[in-house]
Amino acid sequence: METRTTEIADGVYRLSTYVSDVAPPAGFTFNQFLIDADEPLLFHCGHRQMFPQISEAVRAIMPLERLAWISFGHVEADECGAMNQWLAAAPRAQVVHGALACDVSLNDLADRPPRALADGEVLDLGGKRLRWLDTPHVPHGWEAGAMYEETGGVLLCGDLLTHVGDGPALTHGDVLAPALEAEAMFKAMSMHPATGSVLRRLAALEPTTLALMHGSSYAGRGGKVLSDLAAELEAVAA
Ligand SMILES: [Fe+2]
Ligand SMILES: [Fe+2]
Repeated sequence: METRTTEIADGVYRLSTYVSDVAPPAGFTFNQFLIDADEPLLFHCGHRQMFPQISEAVRAIMPLERLAWISFGHVEADECGAMNQWLAAAPRAQVVHGALACDVSLNDLADRPPRALADGEVLDLGGKRLRWLDTPHVPHGWEAGAMYEETGGVLLCGDLLTHVGDGPALTHGDVLAPALEAEAMFKAMSMHPATGSVLRRLAALEPTTLALMHGSSYAGRGGKVLSDLAAELEAVAA
């Protein structure tokens, strides 16, 4: 396994590790995103076992000591398995997440106290601004949330639009059809009465880049992709 780095938007680095024996035959990518700013932020920690190579990939961009913030969408191994390894390697870094995740899990799981953000609160990184958005049960997990980098229009959307295979780091092509195929296979999304409205709230941000945890990131009309995803999921659930 190799971790590859691509700058998918100004100062936004995608670290991607392709694992061929997850979701065979296509395989599956696990992606983290490093936001370079005065106070750099890593979104997704990766699994504990992948920490050596992912941290090496971050170190090729900046010293780990510069890392100020560590965040992710919800509590699962690919999202936060290596959280405490990052906290140990980056002594000034702090975990940051929605208030609910801090109250329910992270105040206990994280080796240093996390910073809790309210829904809609902005974390100013100096040169980049990350808005926290609560997305309860979307894609799954009571504590789920997303972050929106406002200066570049990049939505860190985690498991949303997950698709298999090892495509390009960034595509202008269709990510919705492959995501619907993957969802038919994995059934990873919680269908909650509010799922459609949560997705449409993200769509209303009109992101121009969607940074996906699994699969190619997308450049284009991100708002349309997310509102189409909402409609497709609602049609399946109806
Ligand atoms: Fe997940
Ligand atoms: Fe994931």
